[in-house]
Amino acid sequence: MITLPEAFTQALRAAQRVAVLTGAGISAESGVPTFREAQTGLWAQYDPQQLATPEAFQANPKLVWDWYAWRRKLVRAVEPNLGHHALVSLEQRLPHLTLITQNVDGLHRRAGSRNILELHGDLFATRCFKENTPVEPVDDNSETPPRCARCGSWLRPGVVWFGESLPAAELHQAEAAAARCELFLSIGTSSLVYPAAELPFLALRSGATVVEINPQPTPLSQHAHFVLQGAAGEILPALLSQAFPDEPT
Ligand code: OAD
Repeated sequence: MITLPEAFTQALRAAQRVAVLTGAGISAESGVPTFREAQTGLWAQYDPQQLATPEAFQANPKLVWDWYAWRRKLVRAVEPNLGHHALVSLEQRLPHLTLITQNVDGLHRRAGSRNILELHGDLFATRCFKENTPVEPVDDNSETPPRCARCGSWLRPGVVWFGESLPAAELHQAEAAAARCELFLSIGTSSLVYPAAELPFLALRSGATVVEINPQPTPLSQHAHFVLQGAAGEILPALLSQAFPDEPT
């Protein structure tokens, strides 16, 4: 079992407001490929950053829709891991925890987290490509992409694509949480994609203690107060048992 810095576990116990930012790394131990590691199987030849754009969808709507259908099928087949579950326990034990995620896989919700801000949307949501209005998700066996019953345009995944703006309400709430927290945990993100990657720096500027949990260094590492190099599925359960030793995990 990993031994965490006492100063960190003390800061967690004392915190009234904690903000957590997660990225694809927290779902890696569930078997969901991270965004920047090589894709597997049929999609190995594609770079996600070439598929997750409005231009790619307009150029080849079926290819992009099928890629998201493949990801939905993959995510449906996996389970939240110990890292997701540890965050649920932390939310139950702490006075106020805001979970900000860049992930679209819905695994935090399936694990039982409540106070979630999905900055990059939801893999299982669907929108009309032309009207940009939410549409009831469709099963993936219909014509791909399915069409909007109202206007006949293509339907698209309810996720944020490169070059698109993030949902304003969620981003505003995430910035407020980062500015108000005493402790900010950045977990399983390469800290490369803005505006999400700005949140730990906003917390730093507001005087919060910033902790990074990632097996690899990132641009945040040199600025964080604590860098815990390891897997979220190992570090977060250890954090729970070391910060709250008298409580059943
Ligand atoms: P990335 O694939 O860029 O980074 C995943 C991070 O997780 C890397 O830093 C890994 O070192 C780390 N990691 C891997 N396994 C881990 C584990 N078991 N525990 C903890 N960390 C682990 O994914 P994101 O940072 O989430 O946005 O990418 C951010 C955004 O880039 C995505 O949301 C996506 C993309 O643009 C959109 O699609 C809009």
